[in-house]
Amino acid sequence: MNDKFVLPDAVEIDRENAAVVILDQTLLPCEEKYESLTGIEELVDAIKKLKVRGAPAIGVAAAAGLAACTKRKVLEGTDRTGLSGWFDYCSESLKSSRPTAVNLAWAVDRMKNLFDSLLADGKEPVRIAEMLFDEAENIKNEDICMCRAIAANGLPLISKKGCGILTHCNAGHLAVSRFGTALSPIYLAHESGLEPKVYADETRPLLQGARLTAYELSKAGVDVTLICDNMAASLMASGKIDMVMAGCDRIALNGDVANKIGTLQVAILADYFGIPFYVLGPSSTFDAGTASGKDIKIEQRPAEEITTMHYSKRLAPDGIKVFNPAFDVTPASLITGYVTEKGYFASADGLVESVRKGR
Ligand code: MRU
Repeated sequence: MNDKFVLPDAVEIDRENAAVVILDQTLLPCEEKYESLTGIEELVDAIKKLKVRGAPAIGVAAAAGLAACTKRKVLEGTDRTGLSGWFDYCSESLKSSRPTAVNLAWAVDRMKNLFDSLLADGKEPVRIAEMLFDEAENIKNEDICMCRAIAANGLPLISKKGCGILTHCNAGHLAVSRFGTALSPIYLAHESGLEPKVYADETRPLLQGARLTAYELSKAGVDVTLICDNMAASLMASGKIDMVMAGCDRIALNGDVANKIGTLQVAILADYFGIPFYVLGPSSTFDAGTASGKDIKIEQRPAEEITTMHYSKRLAPDGIKVFNPAFDVTPASLITGYVTEKGYFASADGLVESVRKGR
């Protein structure tokens, strides 16, 4: 895949101005607006509001944010003890901003381990800040390489010309550092002339499929058709879907996968219709510390996302009770295979083994 993608990156690291620059995804597809974030509260707010979103992208934003916030504190003249307390505070604020996607905690822990070791080595604060920026850039570049490898490892699944692929939420360029996870083999198939036909679930309630997947795929010239979430069964019954490709926010040790709410029902439908259901993601989404899907903390979101947001006026009765989990868990038994940067795995055991070997 070309290094220069059709869209700018969702997260840019601005070392010179000690900032993280994000494309505000809440405004898409109507407005392409970039925001330069310099403070921890701003960054946490942007992650909570999904201005920056997608498991790998929030990890990169958090890593860059930790570097930027540290540099700013150093320039204010904060001493080593103050710096240490500040770093802990920022790390905890970031980790608790979105609890389900493990990439966020993974990236924060990686930055924290580096920060602690540099401090213990007696490195100068100015140097520590620069080395944190180096690490944030490493995390982003590694993510780009992983997405490239996921594209190559997922491409053989899209063997025939004009394959019908259903995807849920947005696991594309906007959700990662570049290219995507579930969408990266689709971009590669498109580049290779395989003319994939993508069907994007709109993904209620925040419409990542309608606003983001439809936007980025159509911008790249990929054939994409938008459907409401409740049309997936009828579409599958029509024979137009050859496979499902979905992203992931956390993969547990037994292969259960947390992903955007609605993924589970797509997996159940795919099983019913005998359609392969693939999960694609980087190894950083695998969490050896989580035994099964039952142990994954599911983020609950505000009721307004269902009753009011995206409507010109409130649609549901005042005070109505609302259930709004951001993610659900698809059991390993419904997953045909996993694609990571390390290869294709038909079972969770193969995936676990590949991650263990890589460490
Ligand atoms: O709430 P979001 O929009 O951050 O949820 C995103 C998803 O569920 C994606 O499928 C997942 O993070 C994988 S992104 C490559």
